[in-house]
Amino acid sequence: MDDRRSIIVGANAADARRLAGQIIATTACEAVGRHGQFTLALAGGTTPRPLYEFLAAPPLSEAIPWQDTQVFFGDERDVPADHADSNFRMAQDALLGSVPIRLENVHPMMGDADDLTLAARRYAEQIIRILPQGPDGRPSFDLIILGMGGDGHTASLFPGSTALDEKAELVACADVPVLSRRRMTFTLPLINAAANVLFLVTGKDKAEAIAKVLSSDPAVAAELPAGRVRPTHGKLLFVLDEDAARQTPYKP
Ligand code: 6PG
Repeated sequence: MDDRRSIIVGANAADARRLAGQIIATTACEAVGRHGQFTLALAGGTTPRPLYEFLAAPPLSEAIPWQDTQVFFGDERDVPADHADSNFRMAQDALLGSVPIRLENVHPMMGDADDLTLAARRYAEQIIRILPQGPDGRPSFDLIILGMGGDGHTASLFPGSTALDEKAELVACADVPVLSRRRMTFTLPLINAAANVLFLVTGKDKAEAIAKVLSSDPAVAAELPAGRVRPTHGKLLFVLDEDAARQTPYKP
């Protein structure tokens, strides 16, 4: 197995979140120590909400250097920032409104922009302006947190989406066939340029997809969008609970 990929299994979802939270705090402190800031991209959906609440409370809320942290979002739905389905609103309610992060360092995606293509390009320009370049010349996040759907999608890179094949743009519009909606999303080139990518995946409904993603056969893994996350220089970490890991050889 690639020595830059590791898998940690918690006994349950709460244990997995605790492990992920501790790794996030350590990564944050290491990044600020190394280059003076912590550049973080948050995932949406339901799985990360309790993780964000865990990060928003002591001891982790006091361990993370929020004043030196820049927060972006890996994808956003086509809704206003105050909508119940907004990934930004979820993160704001669960975490960002409770920690001393500078307002100007929180960068929501304009998921409901009339011209989503232009909004995606502008978001990529913000990322390029704020993040240092990585070894492959692309902006490199210190940490990108990702979730995964039962169909193996991650961010808003769904099976069959044209955004999956984007090779140049860092942020793109994704047609989401299953939802017949458009979304804004990080692309694989941006995700794979990160120094660290952390998947938090829990629950029985993710077991079949995560088993394929973690397959030792790269062709099997690459059948799913999450299986195409392979950082070119960075580390890839899967934090699972026992239910999600049940079809893999990995145990708590
Ligand atoms: C989103 C997320 C998405 C999410 C998966 C898993 O906008 O919904 O970015 O990629 O991580 O859909 O979602 P759950 O955590 O709700 O299962």
